Amino acid sequence: MPRIDPAALRALDPDTLDRLRAEELRLLLRSPVRDPPAGGQAAPAPARAFQRGLPGFAPTPLRDAPELARALGVARVSIKDESSRLGLPAFKMLGVAWAGHRAVVARLGLDPERVTSVEALAAAVADGPPLRLVAPTDGNHGRAVARFARTIGVAAHVVVPAAMRPARITAIAEEGASVEQIDGNYDDAVAHAAETVRRGPHDLLISDTTNGVEDAVAGWVIEGYETIGAEIDEALDERPELVLVPIGVGGLAAAIARSLPDPRTRLVGVEPLEAASTMASVAAGRLLMLPGDTDSMMAGLSCGTPSEAAWPIVAPAYAAHLAIGDAAARAGMRVLRELGIAGGECSGGVVGALLQAVDRAPAALGLTAGSTVVLIATEGVTDADGYDALVGPAGVARD
Ligand SMILES: Cc1ncc(COP(=O)(O)O)c(C=O)c1O
Repeated sequence: MPRIDPAALRALDPDTLDRLRAEELRLLLRSPVRDPPAGGQAAPAPARAFQRGLPGFAPTPLRDAPELARALGVARVSIKDESSRLGLPAFKMLGVAWAGHRAVVARLGLDPERVTSVEALAAAVADGPPLRLVAPTDGNHGRAVARFARTIGVAAHVVVPAAMRPARITAIAEEGASVEQIDGNYDDAVAHAAETVRRGPHDLLISDTTNGVEDAVAGWVIEGYETIGAEIDEALDERPELVLVPIGVGGLAAAIARSLPDPRTRLVGVEPLEAASTMASVAAGRLLMLPGDTDSMMAGLSCGTPSEAAWPIVAPAYAAHLAIGDAAARAGMRVLRELGIAGGECSGGVVGALLQAVDRAPAALGLTAGSTVVLIATEGVTDADGYDALVGPAGVARD
């Protein structure tokens, strides 16, 4: 049974461990029901072909972290490093570009078999009626929508919650989007964006969730994210035993369930304590909306309601759900920096959740000295001042 060896990792000094232990850890274990592999990789070919044609596309690295493996007492830990993807510091453009493409193609009545590249889409948009992409966001999704809109030559309007850090708002505005900050949380922003689009004849909703909104976009977002699982599968020479995935509305979690379909791979969802809406929904056996304040340092995961598009895929597939506090995320960010990865709050959350689970409930995840673990580190530094305050200056790798 693995035990943390703090000496194997400098960031895990006794103080850090003590702080982690003082934090609450919520853990829900399940018997997942997963379909056996349907033969080959599931990531949809048209989405991957479209993404490969985007300027600057490259698979993100899967980094081996032997120090972390040693510290946790397992055979191998690999970190899927999404700190830079398509020119932005998070994985989100994978979903936004594919969903945005499909949504604009549909709005303009074009044939998706013919308009298959971003250049062809931009040319079609230039000849078409006015169009504005509208997105609710807790940060990364909206920034990607703003960038995609600029790439294809249309306007973007991004709705953000009250608690969003100024640096993240500035980053969205610098992509050329108008930003509307509402007096509410992320779920309120989702509802507000949907209402805006209902009133705007030229508006097109590009949301990564579906709460109360009937459209296909969130499903296309999931298809776009499936590339991450496919790349993990292509980079690894063995089947991962455990994969930890951060969960906001669950779109990424659904994509990983689909694109790493082998039932022997156990999937673990990670959420903030304040916004563990998927964990609560799984426990209740139905989709729940959490009442009250859902804000946490892990802004991308601060969602009070799972996506209706993701929920039916996620609910049966995950073997465990972990909910952690901000101290765990901060410890995880420090460990990532120790490993030479500038990981933001959500990335730190996944690392911190694994540390906390191994330390506090060592048997729960079924890890052994022979286990191989993959962590999906979904964001880099999206708020430089916040990062510096939490872990010290960005980009300072281990000496
Ligand atoms: C950095 C980061 N990680 C993870 C997630 C969670 O993805 P999802 O909302 O699809 O569950 C988000 C969502 O915004 C995010 O920004």
